[in-house]
Amino acid sequence: MSATPVAAGETRQRARRAPRREQPVEQAPLFEGGRRHVLDLDDFTKEEIEHVLRNADGMREVLSRDTRKTPALRGKTVMTLFYEASTRTRVSFEQAGKILGADVINVQASGGSTSTAKGESLLNTLKTLEAMRIDVLVVRHPHSGAPYFAARHLDASVVNAGDGMHAHPTQALLDLYTMRRHLGRIEGMRVAIIGDILYSRVARSNLWGLRTMGAEVTVCAPRTLLPSGWRPGTVIDEGGAFAGVRVARGVEEAVEGADVVMALRIQQERQAAGHLPSLREYAREYGINAARMKLAKPGALLMHPGPMNEGVEVDTDVAHGPQAVIEEQVSNGVAVRMAVLYTLISRPRSNG
Ligand code: CP
Repeated sequence: MSATPVAAGETRQRARRAPRREQPVEQAPLFEGGRRHVLDLDDFTKEEIEHVLRNADGMREVLSRDTRKTPALRGKTVMTLFYEASTRTRVSFEQAGKILGADVINVQASGGSTSTAKGESLLNTLKTLEAMRIDVLVVRHPHSGAPYFAARHLDASVVNAGDGMHAHPTQALLDLYTMRRHLGRIEGMRVAIIGDILYSRVARSNLWGLRTMGAEVTVCAPRTLLPSGWRPGTVIDEGGAFAGVRVARGVEEAVEGADVVMALRIQQERQAAGHLPSLREYAREYGINAARMKLAKPGALLMHPGPMNEGVEVDTDVAHGPQAVIEEQVSNGVAVRMAVLYTLISRPRSNG
């Protein structure tokens, strides 16, 4: 069958309309040690974190192009498997994979939409999905440790997109990236984290990342939302990355002189569990408002990982004010997740 004839003028028009050639992305594989998974920041060195942040700069350049597409991961498959609700993390991983040219398959596993609802075990679900040949599995699960379980049983790389109250490493990486872009460096910066320190996976991964990068961190929370032994007015002296974290007696003390104020989401179930008297009282005691932001350094950043209970963790005028970088955190999430996916997929594979 002959092809439909095309007039010469139309050919020229099509050529003019044709999208520009996809530009390659200029990146060095960043996990030089051949890291296979991203499960938390507790096993990242400072150099590894710096690699991610540097490579995210390259990804931001890709995102600024007219044609936001590179063939870097063409022929590769990224699967997102979410057993909990998400807006930012799931969508940004999908966008990151697609911009890099990968095929992205989204599996929403909450709400009875996978065979888990019929009694299939997590292991069998994982093995079933891997049988469809995936290169990276991005998994969010309400149980701490589920991504580690996946990493032990799969040949694919695993990225933890949030597991229970344990870790959310790519959120911490995008937070570090946002800070570094504004402040120029992280070492020596004073970061105040206000909110649910005990149950927050974002807080935990950020504490690892910030302390590894040399930031000075102060936390502030109701006593019921602090880890056991973290007493207000003390400095943590336990070993590991949390050594040196200050526990403030109140939000004013925490915020004073800070370069960054990071408010955390209060999960409403904490109130039902008796950890909080009321959200109104939480807002009064711990909410970030204009008066409290004035205690921080001039131009200090206001951050929140989202989703935000506006008027509880942060006052509306501050949340949308000039110091807030909350939406930029979301945009940077795409660049950082592109850097993570690219590196995991492009790492040298073993023959085994
Ligand atoms: N910060 C964060 O994890 O947001 P989502 O729950 O919307 O992914």
